[in-house]
Amino acid sequence: MAYGESRRHQAGPTGRCPRGAFDVNSQRAITIVGIPGSLRRESFNRQLLHAVSHELPPGLNLDVWNGLARIPAFNEDLEDGPVPEAVADLRSAIAQADAALIATPEYNGSIPGQLKNALDWASRPRGSAVLEGKPVATMSASPTPYGAAWAQESLRRVLTIIGAELVGSELAVPQAFQQFDAASRLIAPEFRQQCTGLIGELAARFDPAMTAA
Ligand SMILES: Cc1cc2nc3c(=O)[nH]c(=O)nc-3n(C[C@H](O)[C@H](O)[C@H](O)COP(=O)(O)O)c2cc1C
Repeated sequence: MAYGESRRHQAGPTGRCPRGAFDVNSQRAITIVGIPGSLRRESFNRQLLHAVSHELPPGLNLDVWNGLARIPAFNEDLEDGPVPEAVADLRSAIAQADAALIATPEYNGSIPGQLKNALDWASRPRGSAVLEGKPVATMSASPTPYGAAWAQESLRRVLTIIGAELVGSELAVPQAFQQFDAASRLIAPEFRQQCTGLIGELAARFDPAMTAA
């Protein structure tokens, strides 16, 4: 699913979120930008974003941003002029969305360098950065038992320092190689429930009448 391709989904199999999720102030649909932290073609974390897209209630759209590979290394010297196009694209994707949902792998006890690099770009300029005050939820899939939880610990530390508003529970999917079906749906009811719960918490951030699944 390329960035810009907006998906509106039916209520999940649990039948939760029956009213749909709409910004109570404007009654417009809520848009979430999904950011996969991996460049790998068969990335479990990209699959996890697709798994979320299967569970969205009406009125909640997920746009997956796929520009991570094009983001250049952060350099303060580049901040004086117009920022590189890929960075402008990232900032615009975040700015235009109501919230962000970041799915990160664990690389050597932390998040991948390229994701951290993108977050550094999105943390500037200080005081008016697109991530400052932005509602952000996190999740992670890992082939190992604890990688998904530990990666989010790192990610949340970075987001807190940036000044993002952390929303919702963490979704940590271990043993990722056995968790998705051919359509990238989560197989285990436990994780599907956590997934709909996270979506519900995100939606409730904009429509307080919504309760977490
Ligand atoms: C450079 C590198 C470092 C890694 N470090 C860890 C790690 O610290 N803990 C862990 O659980 N898995 C680690 N892994 C395995 C990744 O979790 C695994 O490759 C995962 O599938 C990456 O996420 P993706 O499927 O979304 O690409 C590492 C992989 C790479 C390439």
